[in-house]
Amino acid sequence: MFECAKYNFENYIKDNYDITNKKIAHKLNHTYHVVDNAKEICIDMNIDNKDVELAMIIALLHDIGRFEQVIEKNSFREDIINFDHAELGVKLLFDDNLIRNFIKEEEYDSIIKKAILNHNKYVLDISDMNELEVLHCKIIRDADKIDSFRAKSEEDIFVMANMTKEDIENSYITDQVFNDFMNGKTILSKDRKTGIDIWVSYIAFIFGLEFNSSLKIIKEKDYINILFNRFNYKYEKDKMNILKNKAIEYLK
Ligand SMILES: [Fe+2]
Repeated sequence: MFECAKYNFENYIKDNYDITNKKIAHKLNHTYHVVDNAKEICIDMNIDNKDVELAMIIALLHDIGRFEQVIEKNSFREDIINFDHAELGVKLLFDDNLIRNFIKEEEYDSIIKKAILNHNKYVLDISDMNELEVLHCKIIRDADKIDSFRAKSEEDIFVMANMTKEDIENSYITDQVFNDFMNGKTILSKDRKTGIDIWVSYIAFIFGLEFNSSLKIIKEKDYINILFNRFNYKYEKDKMNILKNKAIEYLK
């Protein structure tokens, strides 16, 4: 099931997008890492094989709307550009019926649709979901967030977030962002005012992870230290150290 979906996904991207475009390449690379993360979470939690494959297919397709976003907006900062790539992904897959290129069976449509639509929402609304739908929603949300840590630890910050190293290093943390982090909360986009706020908000994703298996991966890869140490903060060294210790404590 997954191999067939992957083969057709690769062809779909090659046929429709320029994979030498940095932002397209970045998203493609992200997609495959999210697939690996979903698989790792499932295996760590002893999930049935059939659901491991389904989780991997959801991961493969979860950002299908992002490629179109690059073409239309040339930015991933949805707080600025007023764009929801999850909604577009669901439209492409289910209104335009692209889904049948990737998976023949119709029985998983509802799970795939709900998981993709909700993967980027600040809060997961499970009110109209069954247990399996909730599980897949949580897996893709965690797998996606985990790869954000990998990307932020090694990729070009401008490609990812349309801001420079200096925007992060030479700015101040907004009180609300600092306090939310210290209270173990993820950061609302609207509360981020500066470059360093945005950087801190990425690290605060740890507070939104659902599974211990996900926290385990963050810990094993040492992402907290790597991300906090990536920049040389001009004015906020002390506060960043306090936040780092809070994050390390949380992972324990
Ligand atoms: Fe993603």
